[in-house]
Amino acid sequence: MSKKILNLMAWHFHNFWGIKLNSGRIVGIVEESKESEVTDAEGLFGNLVTEFGWRVRRLVEEEDEMRNVAQVQAEAFHIPVVFFNNLFLEFFKAEVLAALLYKIRNSPPNRYACLVAEPTHSSDSDPLVHQRLVGVVDITVSTDKDVLDHLEGAEEYLYVSGIAVLNKFRRQKVATVLLKACDLLSLLWGFDYLALRAYEDDSAARKLYTNAGYRVVSGDPVWMTTWIGKKRRILMIKQSSLCVSLVK
Ligand SMILES: CC(C)(COP(=O)(O)OP(=O)(O)OC[C@H]1O[C@@H](n2cnc3c(N)ncnc32)[C@H](O)[C@@H]1OP(=O)(O)O)[C@@H](O)C(=O)NCCC(=O)NCCS
Repeated sequence: MSKKILNLMAWHFHNFWGIKLNSGRIVGIVEESKESEVTDAEGLFGNLVTEFGWRVRRLVEEEDEMRNVAQVQAEAFHIPVVFFNNLFLEFFKAEVLAALLYKIRNSPPNRYACLVAEPTHSSDSDPLVHQRLVGVVDITVSTDKDVLDHLEGAEEYLYVSGIAVLNKFRRQKVATVLLKACDLLSLLWGFDYLALRAYEDDSAARKLYTNAGYRVVSGDPVWMTTWIGKKRRILMIKQSSLCVSLVK
């Protein structure tokens, strides 16, 4: 394979990992008290949120399901290239799947979750019925200091990343329901804050997050964007609903 193609692949993966991995790290070991909370909430994981014709649940750790998750995220974050586009997409999908497996194997169940959205009723005439998943989101307990600086009194928070919805199902509130499920998870796991990052110029994502109650608190430093030439990202945070009602 030529050097040019390899370079293109590296650039392509970097774009995805820029979103997925810069954002915070998977931390910690299961604490006993939190482990029992997870067990208590297990029943709810069957169906975290059901609304607008979609239901959100936790990923089932089976090969087909994990491949479907990788498919949804890879399609959503893949930047088409002129040559060898399908090849790049396949490589990208494999990378996304490998990252998902890594996170599942290395994270306690109350520190990382992949949530998936599917229709509450499937139509047999729908050609996508075999690919029932229409959207996904990752949620990870994180301790990134840059984020904690904006969260009063918090030592950890939930980082929301990799939210993706299949093209055909966009603008039908799938992402909205996924974000509601993240809110619920923050209550179940006992976290006061959720945080995420978006590109400053991505007005669609920003609107989605603002509607869901997130507010912008900071942006990437100028040297990162001007000198290195990366797109500027903003940090958005949201206080968990329980925390808000306790303050009121
Ligand atoms: C961003 C994304 C997850 C939104 O998913 P979705 O299921 O279509 O979002 P929803 O239907 O829940 O949208 C809720 C609101 O967000 C805003 N919104 C979402 N997509 C929008 C778009 N393309 N243009 C303008 N506003 C948009 C709207 O206010 C929308 O409400 P409305 O449809 O009543 O106007 C989806 O477009 C996607 O997968 N994009 C590619 C991956 C990506 O960019 N992820 C975000 C990384 S930060």
